[in-house]
Amino acid sequence: MKFFIDTANLDEIREANDLGILDGVTTNPSLMAKEGITGQDNIIQHYIDICQIVDGPVSAEVIATDFDGIVREGKELAALHKNIVVKVPMIGEGIKAIKHFSSNGIKTNCTLVFSPGQALLAAKSGATYISPFLGRLDDISTNGLDLIAQIRLIYNNYTFDTEILAASVRHPMHIINCAEIGSDVCTAPLKAIKALLNHPLTDSGLEKFLADYAKGNV
Ligand code: G3P
Repeated sequence: MKFFIDTANLDEIREANDLGILDGVTTNPSLMAKEGITGQDNIIQHYIDICQIVDGPVSAEVIATDFDGIVREGKELAALHKNIVVKVPMIGEGIKAIKHFSSNGIKTNCTLVFSPGQALLAAKSGATYISPFLGRLDDISTNGLDLIAQIRLIYNNYTFDTEILAASVRHPMHIINCAEIGSDVCTAPLKAIKALLNHPLTDSGLEKFLADYAKGNV
């Protein structure tokens, strides 16, 4: 499973990249706003900065919601760097635009996917990735992981190349469960990724190894 980091924070992106396990980055307008990145010029520069840190797909989201606007914005974003993936909302105009992009060699991430039917349409339109938001389904008492499993089953039934990019991941168990289901990608906050490192038996075991070494090497 590929690991993407879900943030626009450059320090967090650097830290995850330095771990050596990072495959890509996802952002969205809310994550940009959280970092205080506003104004189109600053947003564009921020995408370029991210692309200079990570050598992997970087999702950059369009703001337009009409076909012409999505296509215009998407082309501008895709021209910024070879690793930019144009993030397009799961709406009718978005699906039309994804079809246009996939026919013209532009990679896409269909975002705000909450149902298997939406995932099926996105795959048929040629999306490179789809982003089912599992945490937001959990928030409304619906099992987000069940959606990932349903989409995995449907995509396995056919020859769709679209990759499942599990999003709205909130904690380490989401990541582990996504890996069990066979999600192609999981995008998560740094905190959830780093939580995978921890085990008390690792800590106590290391402490004892170091203490025993010190006893024999005073
Ligand atoms: O990848 C989508 C993500 O940024 C949304 O996460 O926690 O706002 O539902 P959240």
